[in-house]
Amino acid sequence: MEMIRLNNGVEMPQQGLGVFQVTDQSVCKESVLTALETGYRLLDTAACYGNERAVGEAVRESGLAREEVFLTSKVWIQDAGYDRTLRSFGKTLENLGTDYLDLYLIHMPYGDYHGSWRAMEELLRAGKVRAIGVCNFLPDRLCDLILSHEVVPAVNQIELHPFCQQRALRRLMEQYQIRPMAWAPFAEGMNGVFRHPVLSAIGAQYGKTPAQAVLRWLRQEGVIAIPKSVHAQRIRENSAVDDFRLSPADMVQIQALDLGHSLILDVSSVNEVYRLHGIRFEQ
Ligand SMILES: NC(=O)c1ccc[n+]([C@@H]2O[C@H](COP(=O)([O-])OP(=O)(O)OC[C@H]3O[C@@H](n4cnc5c(N)ncnc54)[C@H](OP(=O)(O)O)[C@@H]3O)[C@@H](O)[C@H]2O)c1
Repeated sequence: MEMIRLNNGVEMPQQGLGVFQVTDQSVCKESVLTALETGYRLLDTAACYGNERAVGEAVRESGLAREEVFLTSKVWIQDAGYDRTLRSFGKTLENLGTDYLDLYLIHMPYGDYHGSWRAMEELLRAGKVRAIGVCNFLPDRLCDLILSHEVVPAVNQIELHPFCQQRALRRLMEQYQIRPMAWAPFAEGMNGVFRHPVLSAIGAQYGKTPAQAVLRWLRQEGVIAIPKSVHAQRIRENSAVDDFRLSPADMVQIQALDLGHSLILDVSSVNEVYRLHGIRFEQ
């Protein structure tokens, strides 16, 4: 798996497995085990996914050494703020059965995320996390966070797929060497992504599927991707993107699919702020 360097020098795999909405613990564990056997070394979970334990069990069962796997988790809105973030982080470590995280992220740009960031800077200094970052931060809040604290986020995990390419946000991120990490690289199946004519034609030139064309495009754009699948065959299909290269013309064609707005989560929508603040759980 290709590695990418973060702004603090830490190297992380450029592609991994996401486990959002995989609430069945045995399905989650099985998918992670399949991914690790296939060669994945980056796993993306979150406190609010309710599957940190299953991810941790799979890592231990895989027989891989802890340092061989790059573990990412996130703190949810209910635990925004300095004290709550430290507490939630402790539970995340306990659930995953590890004593450090590779990447710890603020899940949503809501609540006292400044307090969360101070806690995360402290975790970074204490060596409890190797890198810290955010998710879903739009330019204004990202800029505010950067200007208010010492540590610049290493990553901003955002909705990023051919139909929502986040060009303006990524230009700002580039100034601070903040790596884009694509969630929903397949737009969660929207817009007929898995049978899209442009993506199908591009993939077909190399004997690849539309899904593989999308992942290769993200790879060449310097984006980290965490496609989710609970099917062994798709987990393997999604990992087979190292053996071909899209031409500049292919890249331009995919760039032209950008609709310029989110399809799944508009974090600036008041309805979403209400909805997401309402999500609470026992970690
Ligand atoms: N930070 C955030 O706010 C945030 C938000 C959303 C997601 N995420 C992270 O990003 C990860 C990925 O995003 P996502 O899960 O929302 O969406 P996604 O990866 O774009 O799409 C997942 C969907 O695509 C299907 N799929 C996967 N590979 C396929 C293939 N090769 N052919 C056909 N279908 C395929 C999966 O079905 P099967 O599983 O049935 O194969 C699933 O229905 C999440 O798991 C999570 O870790 C983060």
